[in-house]
Amino acid sequence: MVDIILLGGPGAGKGTQGELMETWLDLPRVSSGDLFRYNLSQQTELGQQAKGYMDRGELVPDEITIGMVAERIARPDCANGVVFDGFPRTVGQAAALDALLAGMGRAVNVVLNIAVSEDVLLQRLAGRWTCSSCGAIYHRLFSQEKVEGVCDACGGGLMQREDDNLATQQRRIRVYQEQTAPLDAYYRQRGVLVDIDGEQSPEQVGRLIRAAIEAVLP
Ligand code: AP5
Repeated sequence: MVDIILLGGPGAGKGTQGELMETWLDLPRVSSGDLFRYNLSQQTELGQQAKGYMDRGELVPDEITIGMVAERIARPDCANGVVFDGFPRTVGQAAALDALLAGMGRAVNVVLNIAVSEDVLLQRLAGRWTCSSCGAIYHRLFSQEKVEGVCDACGGGLMQREDDNLATQQRRIRVYQEQTAPLDAYYRQRGVLVDIDGEQSPEQVGRLIRAAIEAVLP
């Protein structure tokens, strides 16, 4: 059983690495951003509540976000652990996650802090394309699909996220620095934080992550 958190700014590579980890760890990836986008696409009440915050690049309030994640991790596929992507993002969310996991007899095993400078974050976000069908992540320069605009994995069409415009990207980076960066100290104090140099190739970042997880696996 292992519960892992992927921490890092917008575009740091949380989704890219989380997708790979899902496969080799055989654990579900719970991405709060993906859950919000799914709710938006289904036009649920939750999606409507989140939309304005996401469009502005702000965090959705804790009570909405925590409730959504709590419901997701209570499902049977999360019984053996979870790869958390983009959650928690505030100290309040981190405390709530601790309480939720404690209720299941679990605790966060490792937090992977993927460090990437602001310039590189913006470059990555500007070139990102995502499959509208399966969510696979590509980049125009660093991780290109074989046939332009078509997902290698499922043949779906690629699209750019609505919040990937420059103003919202810059706002998301500010919000990360103000509200999420304090989690670094929160988890470092507990001895579960591992710094990962995220400014290397996706393969090399993946190797660093694998080594960090293997060090804590029973
Ligand atoms: P969310 O969807 O979580 O977005 P984010 O944190 O801004 O992160 P991204 O998904 O943009 O980036 P990523 O780190 O996954 O990078 P990726 O792998 O795609 O959140 C969106 C919104 O939802 C928030 O603004 C907020 O409103 C709301 N929200 C979500 N969670 C919330 C929460 N907990 N609380 C409150 N509100 C919440 O990579 C980026 C690009 O770089 C890709 O093109 C990829 O191919 C490329 N790339 C990746 N790694 C490398 C590498 N090593 N080298 C070169 N290129 C790379």
